Amino acid sequence: MFASLFVVMLGLCYCCKESNQTFLGTPELSGPTEAMVKDIVIFNCELHSNHLNESILLQLFKRGQNAKLLGDHTSLDGEPGTFTVIINPSHEGNLQCVARPQNRSNIEPTVSNTLYLSVFEPVEDAKIAVRSGPKEFFEGNRLELFCNLTVGKNVSYMWLLNDRPISRSPRVSLSAESLSISRTTSKDSGSYRCEASNEFNNTVFTVNSSEVVITVKDVVSTPDISFTVLKDESHNYSAVVTCQSTKGTPPVIFSLYNREVLVANMTSEDRSAVFKAPLVLDRHLGFLQCQANNGNQTAYSQWLPLEAVSVGGPVTMRHDYDFGENYAVTGMRFYCKAAKGTHPQYQWFLNKTLLHGLGSFYKVVNQDPKQSMLLLSVSRSSTGTYRCEVSNSFDNTTVISSKRKYVDKEVLNRLPVLVVAVVFGCFTFLILLVSVCCGIGVVYRRRQYGEKSLLGLEMERTVAAYEGELDLSEYNEDADVVETSGGDEFDQASEASLDEWPQIAEQKKTLEDEPIELP
Ligand SMILES: *[C@@H]1O[C@H](CO)[C@@H](O)[C@H](O)[C@H]1NC(C)=O
Ligand SMILES: *[C@@H]1O[C@H](CO)[C@@H](O)[C@H](O)[C@H]1NC(C)=O
Ligand SMILES: *[C@@H]1O[C@H](CO)[C@@H](O)[C@H](O)[C@H]1NC(C)=O
Repeated sequence: MFASLFVVMLGLCYCCKESNQTFLGTPELSGPTEAMVKDIVIFNCELHSNHLNESILLQLFKRGQNAKLLGDHTSLDGEPGTFTVIINPSHEGNLQCVARPQNRSNIEPTVSNTLYLSVFEPVEDAKIAVRSGPKEFFEGNRLELFCNLTVGKNVSYMWLLNDRPISRSPRVSLSAESLSISRTTSKDSGSYRCEASNEFNNTVFTVNSSEVVITVKDVVSTPDISFTVLKDESHNYSAVVTCQSTKGTPPVIFSLYNREVLVANMTSEDRSAVFKAPLVLDRHLGFLQCQANNGNQTAYSQWLPLEAVSVGGPVTMRHDYDFGENYAVTGMRFYCKAAKGTHPQYQWFLNKTLLHGLGSFYKVVNQDPKQSMLLLSVSRSSTGTYRCEVSNSFDNTTVISSKRKYVDKEVLNRLPVLVVAVVFGCFTFLILLVSVCCGIGVVYRRRQYGEKSLLGLEMERTVAAYEGELDLSEYNEDADVVETSGGDEFDQASEASLDEWPQIAEQKKTLEDEPIELP
């Protein structure tokens, strides 16, 4: 209505000019160009005209769509029109003031300059909408949140998960009022909040949404299946089957199957379930499988034969060595294994002492149920006879022992003594040889005076011949003697000599590798 009024007025105005009638003059509108809602602001409309003695009606309009009259003022004697406006959002737009003489219909109204007023509204009422659907869903899906405001312009948004700001990443996109997380995991679960703010005249207005709790559930992982054997007072056996998944948001429903037959099922809050099934020793009773489900898809364990075999011999104890500097044996590893048995239990003995767990020089490792390992650091205190025993984990009626092995640091490391003995033997022999040569030389010289050059030549040849015949194996007997009486001083000597003659060290290593088996 007001718009059409305006057009008519403008039209009239043009007519006036063209018909060269009396012109009122253009009013001038002044005032703020921006204001906040509820602010009280003043606009002035001043008419510089030669009709100052007239009564002029000044009106302030908002033009365009939703045009409206914001105030009027009757001006006498050219006094300016003052308009006091309480700002509301509808005031935003082009404002103009119109001057209209009240008692002279031959003078046409005139329109002022345009003043654009922008109205600022502080943010209000933030609310999160879950665009992607339910608040609880499985990992891998996309989460999309939207921060809805009832009011606010030029808003910047911040998202928080458990009160910590969320930043942009390849998986997380932030655009205007929306947050989108792709390939979610359970780590994206938590309490989401959005914070919206805008600013006017250096004042920041902020509003927080209420929290929305999002739960990203982990899909249950492939369960592990295992069973232990239980023997009750009446000598009946049963299998205690454990189904366990490492991942997956509880509750998880576990079902135990024997082939196609459901044995039992149960709901678990800790990703594991225990079932009991009757058992007969040494008899195959089918195949077991665990199935786990926490709402999305079922995870299947491997098939496990439901069969408990009692341990049986022979029990073998293997070993190997660790070498330190100078090829000295510093450590040993024993492995114990029984020929049969599904639920074996191992025990290690040194002399008659049971070794378990971790000691000053040993460690028992039972990772693989099929075999046990004993780690040994070879020292004076580790000397003794080693063996292992295997029994059933569910009863100890059957106990099978391995063969014994005697371990002695001195014995393991005395082989270099042999080498030392050989070397000493060689030295002794050479000295002996030279002495013999000298002896021969003296005798020869007594017989053949003057033929010195010939004597020298002969001596050289003799030495060469002896060296050629020198065979180390001849002196092994001597070495053995030294070895049996081997003590500390020989050990030290051997180690010192080893540095000087690395080629001998090679020989020593091969000799060491041979195990020493004692009853
Ligand atoms: C306008 O005219 C009316 C009646 O003709 C009169 O009463 C009024 O005083 C006039 N106003 C002015 C401002 O001249
Ligand atoms: C901006 O703030 C200052 C000081 O707070 C005030 O004087 C001024 O009028 C304000 N401007 C607007 C447009 O509200
Ligand atoms: C084990 O017995 C041997 C003798 O048979 C002895 O030398 C050794 O010190 C004993 N070891 C331990 C740890 O008792």
